[in-house]
Amino acid sequence: MGIDCQRHEFDVIVIGAGGAGLRAAIEASAQGAKTALICKSLLGKAHTVMAEGGAAAALGNMRAEDNWRVHFRDTMRGGKMHGNWRMAQIHAQEAPDRIRELEQWGALFDRTHIGRIHQRPFGGHTYDRLAHVGDRTGLEMIRVLQDKGVHMGIEVFMEATVIDIPVVDGRAAGAIAYWRETGRFLLFSAKAVVLATGGIGKAWQITSNSWEYTGDGHALALRAGAELIDMEFVQFHPTGMIWPPSVKGILVTEGVRGEGGILKNSEGERFMFRCVPEMFKGEYAETEEEADAWVAGDHVNYRRPPELLTRDVVAKAIMRENEEGRGSEHGGAYLDIASKRSAEDIRRKLPSMHHQFMELAGVDITREPMEVGPTTHYVMGGIKVDPETEETTCPGLFAAGEVAAGLHGANRLGGNSLSDLIVFGRRAGLGAAESAKALAKAPAIPEERVQVAIAEALRPFDNPSGENAFEVQAALQALMQSKCSIVRDQAGLEEAISGIAALRERARRVSVQGNREYNPGWNTAVDLRSQLDIAEMCARAALMRTESRGGHTRLDHPDSDPAQERIENVITRDGDAMRLESRKQPDLPEDLAKIIREGA
Ligand code: FUM
Repeated sequence: MGIDCQRHEFDVIVIGAGGAGLRAAIEASAQGAKTALICKSLLGKAHTVMAEGGAAAALGNMRAEDNWRVHFRDTMRGGKMHGNWRMAQIHAQEAPDRIRELEQWGALFDRTHIGRIHQRPFGGHTYDRLAHVGDRTGLEMIRVLQDKGVHMGIEVFMEATVIDIPVVDGRAAGAIAYWRETGRFLLFSAKAVVLATGGIGKAWQITSNSWEYTGDGHALALRAGAELIDMEFVQFHPTGMIWPPSVKGILVTEGVRGEGGILKNSEGERFMFRCVPEMFKGEYAETEEEADAWVAGDHVNYRRPPELLTRDVVAKAIMRENEEGRGSEHGGAYLDIASKRSAEDIRRKLPSMHHQFMELAGVDITREPMEVGPTTHYVMGGIKVDPETEETTCPGLFAAGEVAAGLHGANRLGGNSLSDLIVFGRRAGLGAAESAKALAKAPAIPEERVQVAIAEALRPFDNPSGENAFEVQAALQALMQSKCSIVRDQAGLEEAISGIAALRERARRVSVQGNREYNPGWNTAVDLRSQLDIAEMCARAALMRTESRGGHTRLDHPDSDPAQERIENVITRDGDAMRLESRKQPDLPEDLAKIIREGA
């Protein structure tokens, strides 16, 4: 007789309650599936709220020329041609409907003077394309989806950490979890499972991600036998707070640059004018006057400021200024909106940023520049999914949002994440509900399997005196920050891989004290397993990619290699180890290739 579990049975379970998870649960429930939503944190506390600046959708409200083709082209070029073309096409085509649907469900988007949804400019988007609610768009999206989901009667399991996805006869059969409050275990049997657990940023020291972002979904999928791809592509958002140290990494929305904010180095130079890559030459303003005319509102006759280049480009430019001795006082750059916009405009368009800097740094952004630097923000890589249904290569297991890979290629455009969540969250919920219909009953999960997963989770209680989980986690964060960060090289990545192996040994010796009720030491010990898995996936895929592309920069291979374009590094489980292999993505159909070549 093993440890007792609370038992539940559903048609569809959705793990993760950010934008993708909520949208998937809403759709599955709308299709008639008995649906549960399981989240590690409190409902409403999701990284989705960290996408502040807006959701990208070619509504064409600011410029009639905008349409799905331009959005598709921007996404593919922003992703350095590595994205899955079918996902980029679906995303660009469906995002406008998903935004309008959110509005019907109660989202209060900012409006234009004639009452349409207002759209703001963001890096890499040809036209002003981000539907937004001031600089709190993700928060509004979560509010609306949460209201909708709760009113539909979706059952929510809050503060429950999933530790295993059992696979029965080759199909995902549910989830094993524990309540963080009581430490008691839960067993969910389900006909289909959707992973929407978000990202992995908590494996780095400087990150915009909060404590939940330990890569649980990535690691659960790997252990369930699904394929992962593109794990080397991590996005370092160019503008996180860097001072004071207690707030290092907190996001400063790209919306600041969208509203006209400029970046300067310690010499007062607006350095981004020097940093336009070949691929984007001729598309950005070349003088301060031209950029100012654009910020003043003439988007037809003038080109965008170079601060709105893609995130990979801006983050690396800030890093280079520091390497060459022109960084800001605490190692970043100065972001100045005060000299470009009135105090009233700043307070109206960027209320959260105004409040954030005032409260956390004592800086009044209507008068003074902000000090900013790159912060780990997002992983483009993740679980490989079918573009139409979001089913993974493990039958019955679906994935959507940041945990899924493909749409963003080697670099994500700002604002494409929020629209990704609702476009592919909906499709995943639909796919899971359809898949569930094919089964009369959820597969029975063998008790032995449940007890093995529970025993593994409880192991740290049996280690009498050993490592402290927080110290191992801190060592991993320091290792990833120094060896697998914004720039990488072979020697550093090899050190990262051997360092991760040594940390695995230390993690095995972690011991926790006390009981299972709200025990942060134990929770961290459990999270470490996922964090070590995703760190190893990232470092090994980065070592394998001997070129620089988007978010992945190799100092020893500084150029993009045309032979590696559209080559995916695929990761699967091989017993207790990982297997990595390269695979060529299917070629673009000619009609889509033509859009990219010749414009829409
Ligand atoms: O800068 C931001 O507001 C973040 C947006 C995003 O990651 O899409």
